[in-house]
Amino acid sequence: MYYPDELVEEVRMKNDIVDVISGYVRLQKKGANHFGLCPFHNEKSPSFSVSGSKQMYYCFGCGAGGNVFTFVMNYENYTFAEAVKLLADRAGVNLPEMEYTEEMKKKEGHRSRLLEVNKEAATYFFYQLRSPRGEAGYRYLTGRGLSKETMKKFGLGFAHVSGNDLVQYLRSKGYKDQLIQEAGLAGFDEKHGMHDKFWNRVMFPIQDINHRVIGFGGRVMGDAKPKYLNSPETMIFDKSRNLYGLNFARTSRQNNVILCEGYMDVIAMHQAGFTQAAASLGTAFTSGQANLLKRYVKEVLLAYDSDGAGVKAALRAIGILKETGLSGRVISLEPYKDPDEFIKNLGTEAFQERIRQAENSFFFELRILERDYDLKDPESKTRFHREIAKKLCGFPEEVERENYMQAVAERYHIGFENLRKLTASYAAQTGLVSPVARPKSGLAQKRNTPEENRKKMQRLLITWITEEPGIYPKIAKYITPEDFTEPLYRKVADRLFDGLSKGEYQPAAMISMFADEEEQREAAALFNTKLTELETRQEREKALHDIVYTVKKNSYEYYSERMGAEVNAINQVIAGKKALEELSKTHISLDEG
Ligand code: UTP
Ligand code: MN
Repeated sequence: MYYPDELVEEVRMKNDIVDVISGYVRLQKKGANHFGLCPFHNEKSPSFSVSGSKQMYYCFGCGAGGNVFTFVMNYENYTFAEAVKLLADRAGVNLPEMEYTEEMKKKEGHRSRLLEVNKEAATYFFYQLRSPRGEAGYRYLTGRGLSKETMKKFGLGFAHVSGNDLVQYLRSKGYKDQLIQEAGLAGFDEKHGMHDKFWNRVMFPIQDINHRVIGFGGRVMGDAKPKYLNSPETMIFDKSRNLYGLNFARTSRQNNVILCEGYMDVIAMHQAGFTQAAASLGTAFTSGQANLLKRYVKEVLLAYDSDGAGVKAALRAIGILKETGLSGRVISLEPYKDPDEFIKNLGTEAFQERIRQAENSFFFELRILERDYDLKDPESKTRFHREIAKKLCGFPEEVERENYMQAVAERYHIGFENLRKLTASYAAQTGLVSPVARPKSGLAQKRNTPEENRKKMQRLLITWITEEPGIYPKIAKYITPEDFTEPLYRKVADRLFDGLSKGEYQPAAMISMFADEEEQREAAALFNTKLTELETRQEREKALHDIVYTVKKNSYEYYSERMGAEVNAINQVIAGKKALEELSKTHISLDEG
């Protein structure tokens, strides 16, 4: 993952973004930019733009954006290193062996040993299942309707009854006890010494998106407890950031992912041809997982168990999807418990039909909520309507809120105007959304946490500067890189401001500064935060002033809290105070053209 910066930059410079993207998307020149149909979402008219001067792309429809590396990463589902490799080959640049620092080497070395020992264990289980000793496991899985191919695809295996076979096998391959234990494959006690964690279970290797085994789930073949035993979290196994089956689902070329609860559900769906299925790992769905899904799809279909616990888990997941900006629909599995049982009983076509009928997550929430009220009782009914109005406030965008209001009014026979008034009154009380349309401003307020808002403002400012480097001299007096309190933004601002002060301007280079893939994506977003289209110069000046002021104010507050703890804080506070006073009196003027 770690090529020298200069080399990455050389690769980038030798791959003109317009040329590269033209290989994937039909582009047409319009003014300074090229436009085409966005490859990252479905659209009929082109909102995907590629800028030769900025060497960046941006989609006005879905917000995808970045430099030539980001494009290849997203289009091909590549890691950063893979994207660098592809583009280096394309431009005929020779790549050396990866460069690692000593510390990285140690950490990477340990990670790869953990991956190796897991892979070795998976191989062992795999062959056990297919040996005479694995017969019980094989019979169990066959009995559950799995074909030989399916078992192979998912690398299913078997851990038989004996006490420390795996440990012995791994030792014979040269693995140290400590590593075997750390990988969660064995336990240790005074009486028995090292003993296998998994025994007499069918084994489900858990793979990351690159098909590397990072842990296991093991199922008993009868009714014993616990039904599933899972590997503990390790340096390579983070349950909140991986999903079972996503290694296959992400390349299924569907525009959704079906999210379910169980390993067997994923496998049954894949076997039936629904290769976009994935599941969380015996723990509740997390926002880390939602972010992971967001890389590949816009929509998630929930196929959670139809029992009480499943419904509760689905409601939680809907909240997380919403926060992440993914749309959600809910698949009804009634009268069966889970996707596995549904498919076994009603078959593939019936399941396909349930996907088609999947319910909008908002209506699902209302339908569940409705169960707590007696709609024949006016008082209870009123309370229900109030709850609906409150929930409607959760849509910050007016058009969307109106659309939902209309649909809800129809469905629950509520007068539209009444519902609108009720919603408006809650909105005003809680300040969640503006009840009346406010004039356009650069600071379109969404319902975000203060933390999110702070980041958003910093992002907006960086995007604006990249779009219009000409504003830099006008704000340099008030804003310094230290004002970007988010570490990643700070790193970008340091480099951006340093370049601009010397008259250099290479925004696309900055994305490659980040080694971590997640950080890269975030950095790309940083340059492509959607700026509200502002028409008049006054509007633009006011918006810029507001953004600069807010960023400075946040920074002032941030450093005020850290006085005494951070050496530099006091200087930042003094400078911040002065700049804020000045800003409250001055106007930032933008020269036209
Ligand atoms: P379920 O109990 O719904 O099981 O657990 P299932 O997936 O339908 O399994 P089968 O069909 O009986 O084989 C859903 C998921 O919760 C986790 C597992 O990840 C399982 O796939 N789980 C469940 C555990 O981790 N431990 C348990 O004891 C039970
Ligand atoms: Mn099941």
